[in-house]
Amino acid sequence: MERIPLDRIRRIRIWEHGKEEGLLHGLNEKNKKISLLDLASNDYLSLSTNPKLVEAANLAMISQGVGAGGSRFITGSRPIHKKLENALGEWLNREHVLLFPSGFQANLAAVIALANRNTLILADKLIHHSLLVGIHASGAKFKRFAHNDLNELQKYLTLSHGQKVLVITESLFSMQGTSPDLEKVCLLCKKYNANLLVDEAHALGVMGYQGRGLCYGLSDQVSLISGTFGKAFGSGGAFLASNKFIGEDLVQKSGAFRYTTALAPPLAAAALEALKIIQQNPSWGEELQLEAKRWRNQINTQGWDYPPGEGPIISIVIGSNKQSLAYQKKLEQNGLLCVAIRPPTVPEGTSRLRIVVRRNLPKNTLQKLTSSLAKQ
Ligand SMILES: Cc1ncc(COP(=O)(O)O)c(C=O)c1O
Repeated sequence: MERIPLDRIRRIRIWEHGKEEGLLHGLNEKNKKISLLDLASNDYLSLSTNPKLVEAANLAMISQGVGAGGSRFITGSRPIHKKLENALGEWLNREHVLLFPSGFQANLAAVIALANRNTLILADKLIHHSLLVGIHASGAKFKRFAHNDLNELQKYLTLSHGQKVLVITESLFSMQGTSPDLEKVCLLCKKYNANLLVDEAHALGVMGYQGRGLCYGLSDQVSLISGTFGKAFGSGGAFLASNKFIGEDLVQKSGAFRYTTALAPPLAAAALEALKIIQQNPSWGEELQLEAKRWRNQINTQGWDYPPGEGPIISIVIGSNKQSLAYQKKLEQNGLLCVAIRPPTVPEGTSRLRIVVRRNLPKNTLQKLTSSLAKQ
């Protein structure tokens, strides 16, 4: 086995939820107990501990057990799966929705469904690792365009000369907080007759019309939308949304769908409850974006570049690993948990602090954050 360079070795830290909203209890590097306010997880709407989700998961568990016990084609399909698929299809205005146990698997399935060795894949340079694994598994030819650079995408499309093309991007990039101009991406895909796969993992529930993601309202040009319940939905599991032809193709051919235990019923029940809550509170996404804007402005007044994007992920590029870790430590000393994101998760020399604005944070959070971010 190849040795891992020392600076790439990561430590798994263990956290427990505290009774107080958003507080995590864990240990620091000296094994001393600490309580930190969570500004790092993707629980954007603070739904993972919402009593209604907990109750829905509990009820499902009591009536149906913990696990599905089989794949969807054998014994694992439950009414809750169909209910959730139908509700999501209606919410997103897509003909077909198919559940997966995780977003990683959904992405693998999505790429393999739309590409084979005769396909040219054009993907944003910063797409998620799961999509890259799917690309390699598909055997397709593969070119990356610079992050959100649609001129470069167009250049590659122009050179694609009648090949079958699949474009892959995300609607809200998890480590950058940025979004592409999806309307323009759709127009380009239409012009060059390319399929389009958009990973909405971080946008779903918080971005776009009533939190329906940034693909909502865009044409059928988006061949597949990938979404996960592990972030704003506060649960676990994932789905792919498409037209009925692609959907049925996935059902029949996708190994990542067929040969895996179905999504655990309690997780599906919690995801359905999250969807109901999001539908009942259509302004939550916009409110979170407004709050994130306030944070970006304040961070900017501390002398940092204005962090890009509009969503709840605020990425402050610091540069060196050492300095990013120093800021993480300083934030911890002030009771805040923001994680320094380092290569290989982000490109070399762009280590950063990733700050997540969640719903229902204590009022003094921003003030604490900005005082910890005074330039060192
Ligand atoms: C952009 C993106 N896509 C997909 C995934 C995978 O989702 P899941 O956690 O449901 O496997 C993640 C999670 O890390 C992600 O950030």
